[in-house]
Amino acid sequence: MKLAVIYDSKTGNTKQAAEWIAQGMMQEEGVEAQTFHISAVDEAFVNAAKGVVIGSPSYCALMTPAMHDWLLEKASNLDLAGKLGGAFATVQYTHGGGEVVIQSILTNELVFGMLCYSSGGEYGNPYIHLGPVGVNGNKEAHNALENYKDYFTIFGQRFAKKAREIFVETGDRL
Ligand SMILES: Cc1cc2nc3c(=O)[nH]c(=O)nc-3n(C[C@H](O)[C@H](O)[C@H](O)COP(=O)(O)O)c2cc1C
Repeated sequence: MKLAVIYDSKTGNTKQAAEWIAQGMMQEEGVEAQTFHISAVDEAFVNAAKGVVIGSPSYCALMTPAMHDWLLEKASNLDLAGKLGGAFATVQYTHGGGEVVIQSILTNELVFGMLCYSSGGEYGNPYIHLGPVGVNGNKEAHNALENYKDYFTIFGQRFAKKAREIFVETGDRL
């Protein structure tokens, strides 16, 4: 089962978060996860994927303009309808708008007809209500993106598990 993680990133934080999510996904048996910057998306891989997670840095508490343009101009040409969808963000301030970024990406995914999943409270701790947010150490000395690694990998693993349940194991439950 293929899963894709698509991101925008200028200074590498969101790229790193995407790679952690993909590592978590591949902890689930039979998963092939790949990450793509929005400028180099392998459309055939994404179209074949059962799930797609999309992430952006927070720019003025919004997704980046490049991610917004990609969602409007490119993503709508992909076969996203019916796939599992998730979202994530990186920020430099704890209260820098990460969840607003996630919520707006999830809104786009719903418009595309995707089935959105965050894991929420399904597995208890860590609770991930909308999607994982990582705070880097640019401005807050007590913070570092590495501190959030587990949230990204755990989210990736849970997302892959849910995709397997829906798309691979459904027959067992019917
Ligand atoms: C133009 C611009 C606006 C930004 N606005 C915010 C913001 O509103 N809140 C925040 O926490 N960080 C903000 N940041 C910081 C980035 O969101 C943060 O450093 C992020 O991790 C960068 O991701 P990247 O390394 O993948 O490019 C801003 C950065 C830039 C360049």
